Amino acid sequence: MLKPVITLLCILMGTISVNMVGQNNLPIYLDESKPIEQRVEDALSRMTLEEKVAMCHAQSKFSSAGVPRLGIPENWATDGPHGIRPEVLWDEWDQAGWTNDSCIAFPALTCLAATWDKDLSALYGKSIGEEARYRNKNILLGPGVNIYRTPLNGRNFEYMGEDPFLASKMVVPYIQGVQANGVAACVKHYALNNQEIDRHTVNVNVDDRTLYEIYLPAFKAAVQEGKAWAIMGAYNRYKGEWACHNQYLLNDILRGEWGFDGVVVSDWGGVNNTKQAIYNGLDMEFGSWTDGLSEGASNAYDNYYLANPFLKLLYSGEVKVEEVDKKVRNILRLAFRTTMNTKRPWGSFGTPEHAAAGRKIAEGGIVLLKNNNNVLPIDLNKTKKILVVGENAIKPMTVGGGSSSLKAKYEIAPLDGIMKRMGTQAEITYARGYVGDPTSEYNGVKLKRDLHDSRSAAELIGEATKLAKDADVVIFIGGLNKSDGQDSEGNDRKALNLSYGQDNVIAELAKANKNLIVVNISGNAIAMPWINDVPAIVQSWYNGTESGTALASILAGDANPSGKLPFTFPVKLDDNGAHKLGDYPGLNKEATYHESIFVGYRWIDKEKIKPLFPFGHGLSYTTFEYGKASADNKEMTADGKISFYVSVKNTGNREGAEVVQLYISDLKSSLPRPVKELKGFEKVNLKPGEEKTVTFTIDKTALSFFDDKKHDWVAESGDFEALIGVSATDIKSKIGFKLK
Ligand code: GLC
Repeated sequence: MLKPVITLLCILMGTISVNMVGQNNLPIYLDESKPIEQRVEDALSRMTLEEKVAMCHAQSKFSSAGVPRLGIPENWATDGPHGIRPEVLWDEWDQAGWTNDSCIAFPALTCLAATWDKDLSALYGKSIGEEARYRNKNILLGPGVNIYRTPLNGRNFEYMGEDPFLASKMVVPYIQGVQANGVAACVKHYALNNQEIDRHTVNVNVDDRTLYEIYLPAFKAAVQEGKAWAIMGAYNRYKGEWACHNQYLLNDILRGEWGFDGVVVSDWGGVNNTKQAIYNGLDMEFGSWTDGLSEGASNAYDNYYLANPFLKLLYSGEVKVEEVDKKVRNILRLAFRTTMNTKRPWGSFGTPEHAAAGRKIAEGGIVLLKNNNNVLPIDLNKTKKILVVGENAIKPMTVGGGSSSLKAKYEIAPLDGIMKRMGTQAEITYARGYVGDPTSEYNGVKLKRDLHDSRSAAELIGEATKLAKDADVVIFIGGLNKSDGQDSEGNDRKALNLSYGQDNVIAELAKANKNLIVVNISGNAIAMPWINDVPAIVQSWYNGTESGTALASILAGDANPSGKLPFTFPVKLDDNGAHKLGDYPGLNKEATYHESIFVGYRWIDKEKIKPLFPFGHGLSYTTFEYGKASADNKEMTADGKISFYVSVKNTGNREGAEVVQLYISDLKSSLPRPVKELKGFEKVNLKPGEEKTVTFTIDKTALSFFDDKKHDWVAESGDFEALIGVSATDIKSKIGFKLK
C-alpha cells in the first residue's frame, strides 16, 4: 500500500517523471528486479553535476557522499583485513570511544595463507564480512595481497606471502565470503607496494614480465575470480605515475585487460593530481589534504583533487561530463551491490562463532618448523613444571601495527592460553626474559596490561635461566611485535635478527634446559643463530582474539599443526634477491627490482641457496608416506589437460592434515624461467592409517610464462616436469611430460 503512495508523492514532487517508473510503480533505479546497469543509467540520469562530483571524494575520514535526494546512502569504508576498526570521529584517526564497537580480531593474513586451506579462507571472509555488515560498513579495506619481496617489509603480516599462485588461490574465497554479506572487499594495495620505507614517494621500476608473473596475479584473481567490487590504489609510483591514478595499471590492465567493473579507491592520501585522477582511472579519493595521514583542514574535503578543482573543470567544459559519469557509474554499481541491496543479510558482531572461526584459522595456520626428540606436543602426564619466558607471551598484538590495529572484544595472550589449558595439570611459571616495547596504544586504543618492567637485561636473563634449570619444559615466546620498525605500517625493519637481545636470552635458556621450545610470533622471517641449540621451533602469527587458545592447543597436542610457510626463511638477508642485488630500499626514491621474477624460493632455487626453512615447509605430530606419483598421459596438447596422481598415507597414530604441493618445471625455454613454480596444492586430512589419492589437473596456463615482447602468456612446446612435494625443497616425486 505504501509504495504507490510514495511513488505518487514523488511524481507530484516532480522528482520522478512518469516514464521512468517501472511496471511495479517503482522508479527503475529503485527496482531490484531491473538489471543493475539499467538502474545505474536511470540513477545517473537523475543526478546533478554537483551530486556526481560529491560521490567521487571523501566527506569524512572514512565516508563519501551518497545522493540523499534519491535515497542513495553514503559509502562507509572501514579498515582492515583482520577485523573491523573501532569507530572514529568524523574527521579523526583516533577512535570515537564507542562502547559497542569492540570486534573479534581475526588472525593476520599471513596466518590464513599459512593454512593453505581455501575453506578456511571462505570461513574467514564470511566471518569478517558479517562483522563489517553489522557495523554498517559497505567497503572493507582489505584483503592485502602485496607479494613478500623482502623480509623487512613492515606490512608483510597483512599479506599472503611470496608466491603469486598461493596468494591468488587464498584471496578468492575471502573476497567471496565478505561480499556475500553485501559488503565490498577492497583488495589492496594495487600495485607494487612491497616496502614501507618511502612508501608515499618511491618509484618502482620493474619489467613487464615480473609485473605480470609475480606482482599482478593475486590482484587479477581477486578481480576475475573473486569478483572484487573495489580495489585500492597503492601509495607508490610505477613508471613515474602514482599508482592511485596510473594509466597503465588502472585503465590499460585493470579495466582493459581484466574487465574490472568495481570502484577504484585511493589509499588515504594517495592522490596527488587532479587531471591524472580524472583521466587515469581513479573513482573515489580518500584521505587527501591530510599531509598523508595526520591532520586535515576543516574544509579539506571541498579542496580534494576530485572536489572543487574537478567541478571547476567540468563547469568550464575543459573536462567533459562523461569523465565524471564513468566514475559515478562504478560508484552507483557499488551502491546497488551493497547499501541499496535490500536483501543483504544483517551480519553479526563480536560473536563466539567468529571467535571460534579465528581460533580454527589460527590452529590451521600455526607452523611446526622443528621438533627433534618429539619435545612437542608437551606430554602433560609427564611434564609437571613448565616455564614460560618472553614478552610476547603477555603482549597483546591486536593493538598497533598501523591501520590494521583493532579494539578487540578480548584477546587471549599466549600465557593466558597456556595457563588455561595446562595450569591444572602442571605448575606454570612465567619469567619476562627481556623487555621489548612495553607501550602499546594506537589511535586511543590502549593495552589493558601494564608491561613496564624496570629490571636490567642481566637481571631478567638471570631470573629466566635460574627458573629454567629446574623446569621440565621451557617455552620461550618472542619474535617481532606491532611497534614501529617491527611488523608495522609506515616503516620497515632494519635487520633480519630479533630485537631486544632475544637471541641472547634464547641462547642462555638453551644452556639451562635442553627441553626448550621457541615460539616465534611474527609476520616476517627472522634469523635464528641459536637454531642448533633449540630442539623445537613453532612459527606462530598475529592470531587475534584467540591467539593464546590456539597456541596452547597446538603445544598441548589437542590440535595437530598443519600450517606451511607462505614465505621462505633465509639464513641471512643476502640470501634474498632484493638484498643481494642491493636494490632494497632503492636509491633516491627509485626502487628497481633487478631480481625480476626470482622472488622467494625462485631466487633460492636459482642461486642454489639452502634456506633456513623453505617455502611450503611445516611438520606434523603424525607422519605421512607418499606413493610414487603418476600421470594420465606422457604428453599434453596446447588446448588439453594433464592429470597427476599421488597417494598420501597417514602412517602415524593420530589424525593430521598434509598439504601436497605441485610445482612445474620448464626444462627448456626461450626466456630464463624459475627452476620450478607452484601450480597446485591440496590440503588433505587423514585419520591414522588412512590413505587418499590427490589429483592435480593442469592446462597450459600452468606451463606458461609472460612474454613481454608479445605482451601475452606463452606456453612453449617441449619437456616439462611435474614435481610433487611437501615444501619447495622436499620433493617426493618427479614426472616428466611433453607439451606438444
Ligand atoms: C593506510 C593504509 C591503508 C588503509 C588506509 C586507511 O595508510 O595504507 O591500507 O586502509 O590508509 O586507514
